[in-house]
Amino acid sequence: MSSTEKKAGPGGSLPETVSYSEYLRLDDLLGAQQPRCEAAGVPAHDEMLFIIVHQAYELWFKQVHHELDSVLAAFSREQVDEAGLGTVVHRLDRVIEIQQLLVQQIRVLETMTPLDFLDFRNLLSTASGFQSWQFRLLENKLGLPEEQRLRYSERRYSSYFPEAIRGKLESSERNTTLFSGVQAWLERTPFLELGDFRFLDAYAAAAERMLEADRETVRRSTLISDEERQVRLKMIDGTAANFESVIHADRHEALVKEGRRCLSHKATIAALFINLYRDEPILQMPFNLLQALVEIDEGLAHWRSRHTQMVLRMLGRKIGTGGSSGFEYLRDTVDRHRVFMDFFDLATCLIPRSELPELPEGVREQLRFHFSD
Ligand code: HEM
Repeated sequence: MSSTEKKAGPGGSLPETVSYSEYLRLDDLLGAQQPRCEAAGVPAHDEMLFIIVHQAYELWFKQVHHELDSVLAAFSREQVDEAGLGTVVHRLDRVIEIQQLLVQQIRVLETMTPLDFLDFRNLLSTASGFQSWQFRLLENKLGLPEEQRLRYSERRYSSYFPEAIRGKLESSERNTTLFSGVQAWLERTPFLELGDFRFLDAYAAAAERMLEADRETVRRSTLISDEERQVRLKMIDGTAANFESVIHADRHEALVKEGRRCLSHKATIAALFINLYRDEPILQMPFNLLQALVEIDEGLAHWRSRHTQMVLRMLGRKIGTGGSSGFEYLRDTVDRHRVFMDFFDLATCLIPRSELPELPEGVREQLRFHFSD
C-alpha cells in the first residue's frame, strides 16, 4: 500500500484524499456539453440550455433506476420481507419527488422560444428523446406491456436502439417489473379468508346494501320528475355493474381479456381490502405502497402531458426528429402508456367507512401490532 492510499474495506483501496472536482469527476461532467452550433459555426445561444436540460434529465433517470432496481430486487424474492416494505415505500417516495422536479424543468426549457430552437434544430439530425434508452427502460421496469405501446411505424420500439441497448431493453421486459412484482405480492395477501370470515362475501353484501339505500333515496325523492328518476336508477345500475365486475372473478377475467383490466382478480381483491381497511396498523404500509404506485403513474402521465404541450409550443404540428407525427403521437401516449390504471379504478368500488363490514375480532387482532408472551 502506497503512502497516499489506505484500506477502504475488505479488499479495496482508495486514495487518502480526494478533491471536490475529483470526487464528482467534474472534468468529465463539464466537458460533456458540446453544442453542435459551435462546430457548425452558426450562432445558437440556446443550444447549451437544450443540452444541459437533457443531460440533467438523464442523470435523474439514472437515479430513478438506482431506486427502482433496489425495489425490484425486493419484489423478486419469493417472500417480500415485510420489514423491508418501509424502505421500498421510502425509495418510491423519492422517485415521486424526482418526478416533480422533472416536470418543473420543462419551465426552464420553455424560456427558449420556437424561433431560438430553430437556430439549431436541424443540427439535431435524427436525434430524438424517443431514443432515450433510460426512459424506455423506465417504462419497462414499471411494467408497460409491449402490446400497449403506441407504434408510429411497423418496427418495435427496441429496434431503434443499438444491439447492446436492445438486449438490455428486451431483458427488462422479461424480468420482474414493478407491476408484476406488486401483483404477485398482493396475490399472497393473507387475511382475505380467515376462519369463517370471507372478505369478498362481506364486501358484496355491504355494496348491495349501499346501492339499495341509494335506489330507495331516488325512489322516494319528491324533487325529481319520474323521467329523471328512471335516469338516476339506470345510473345506479351502472355503478352496480362496476361492483359486480370486481366481485365476480369471471366478469373480471372477461375485462382482462378485453384489455380493460390488467391486474389479476386475486390481486384486485387484495388491493381493495388494503384500501378499505387501511386504518388497521398492519395495512398502513401496504396502503402507502399502493398510493406510491398511483402517484408514480400520475407523475409520469403529468410529465408526458407537459412535454406534449411544450412540443406543441416549440414545433406546432411539425413532425418530430425521431420520425413521429410529433404532437399527436405524444398526446396519445398520455392515456395509452399507463401502467397502474387498475389501482385508480379501485376508487369506483370503494364504499364509505360507515358501510364497511366490521371485521371479526379474530381478524382485527391479527391486523394489529400486539405483544404476547
Ligand atoms: C424543445 C424541446 C423538445 C422538443 C421539441 C421535443 C420533441 C419531441 C418529439 C417530437 C418527440 C416524439 C418523437 C419524435 O418524433 O422525435 C419527443 C419524444 C420524447 N422526448 Fe422530447 N422534446 C423536447 C424536449 C425533451 C426533453 C427535455 C426531454 C427529457 C429527457 C425529452 C424526452 C423525450 C422522450 C423520453 C420522448 C419519447 C416519448 C415517448 O415515445 O413516449 N424531450 N420529443
